[in-house]
Amino acid sequence: MLLELTPDELLTTTRAVRKRLDLTRPVEREVLEECLALAQQAPTGSYKQDWHFVVVTDPGLRAGLAELWRQGGEKYLSRAGKPEEIPGIMGRVLDSVFHLVDHLHQVPVHVIPCIEGRTEGKSVFAQASRWGSIMPAVWSFMLAARSRGLGSVWTSFHLAHEREAAELLGIPYDEVMQAALIPVAYTIGTDFKPATRAPLESMVHWDHW
Ligand SMILES: Cc1cc2nc3c(=O)[nH]c(=O)nc-3n(C[C@H](O)[C@H](O)[C@H](O)COP(=O)(O)O)c2cc1C
Repeated sequence: MLLELTPDELLTTTRAVRKRLDLTRPVEREVLEECLALAQQAPTGSYKQDWHFVVVTDPGLRAGLAELWRQGGEKYLSRAGKPEEIPGIMGRVLDSVFHLVDHLHQVPVHVIPCIEGRTEGKSVFAQASRWGSIMPAVWSFMLAARSRGLGSVWTSFHLAHEREAAELLGIPYDEVMQAALIPVAYTIGTDFKPATRAPLESMVHWDHW
């Protein structure tokens, strides 16, 4: 079922959802396939869509990925301090990240978008072309998910252990890069607000930087 959202509402309310993921409600395979079919329409920098989506629903595999994610996040999170002592948005985001550390294994679906080729040691041109070829598809997937009442969040922590994740899932590490781990679940409530952003003029440059 589609939520009643205008295109602008969809674009402004597809948020990083961690605490409001419904861990008890299964996600139908057909709904995920609809979102993935929409993602397939995204652009790539190559003549073919050399991306892959590994959709993980097996509880043992999700537990394995959640452990790699926790380990990957540890370094960042140990430096970050206690959420309750950090004022404002940063404290709230951190609190939400800690929540996901505790619950990622329970999130019913983990989606791992992958792209063929590895960019280690390559030029910025080559890197930008590779990563730029998978990112639009992932964001389309997340928008399509939101329009169906699903929440998601782009995460990268598990990539600190990309090789172990590749072994766990049978991904051919030498030929394929993982871009992210996207937890997906129905959201608890469907009302989300646009985020506060810096004034446009602080980041837009007309004609000259
Ligand atoms: C490239 C990238 C990597 C991210 N990695 C993580 C991550 O490892 N763990 C996490 O909890 N969130 C991760 N996030 C989510 C950001 O923290 C999130 O976008 C931020 O909370 C801002 O949310 P907002 O867009 O709703 O304001 C990542 C987002 C991006 C775009």
